[in-house]
Amino acid sequence: MNPAQEWDPAQYAQGASFVPKLGEAALAWLAPQPGERILDLGCGDGALTQKLCEAGCEVVGVDASAAQVSAARARGLTAHCANGEALNFLAEFDAVFSNAALHWMKNADAVLSGVRRALRPGGRFAGEFGGKGNVAQVQAALEAELAARGLDGAALNPWFFPSAEEYAARLAQHGFSVQRITLFPRPTPLPGDLCEWLNIFATPYLNALPPAERQSFCQSVQHRLTPTLRLKDGTWQADYTRLRFAAQL
Ligand code: BEZ
Repeated sequence: MNPAQEWDPAQYAQGASFVPKLGEAALAWLAPQPGERILDLGCGDGALTQKLCEAGCEVVGVDASAAQVSAARARGLTAHCANGEALNFLAEFDAVFSNAALHWMKNADAVLSGVRRALRPGGRFAGEFGGKGNVAQVQAALEAELAARGLDGAALNPWFFPSAEEYAARLAQHGFSVQRITLFPRPTPLPGDLCEWLNIFATPYLNALPPAERQSFCQSVQHRLTPTLRLKDGTWQADYTRLRFAAQL
């Protein structure tokens, strides 16, 4: 998990509510059944965890952010603060679900070991996260602006964006049979401008700079991306690519 990434539930609810909304399609690949016990890995503020509860499942959410766990609990959900790379559940879930969280966990093998341990025999693992090429233009602009300030942006990269082939192979190595896996571009309209997105999602990069320089840095990154990510109507669209998968033990 990336300790440099910070989450502010109020800022997230305002500027990132598209994340759980767009994650609903991945829930269909999980096909949750009433009565199933499900682990929501990287539950955030619990918006999708709640959908699983409404489907009649008994759900436990875990997230590395104490603030997000509090927000999930405020919805009345069962949620715990936990490191997704060191899960310690043992054979107690019918399924593990994850939306927009696995790209923050760079040690994918540690995650998959923990998911496998958490599942009962025959258990399912389904979800969605950023795949190969995700936010590539944003990442290139971040790295270019950091380089202009004498910093190595590649060394700060907090994200794991695998190809479908790479992730399918890792799932198989951990004993999963992959039922479906697909990588697809999903250009994503942003509710605000790119600076707002950077302030929510790119804090591991921003934190490398003195606080007084962060906003002008964001403006420079945004300026670089204006020709490609700002639409004619003035709204912004991020170059997301998703990896969606369903697998079973
Ligand atoms: C994503 O959900 O694709 C994402 C989130 C944070 C940073 C980069 C990508």
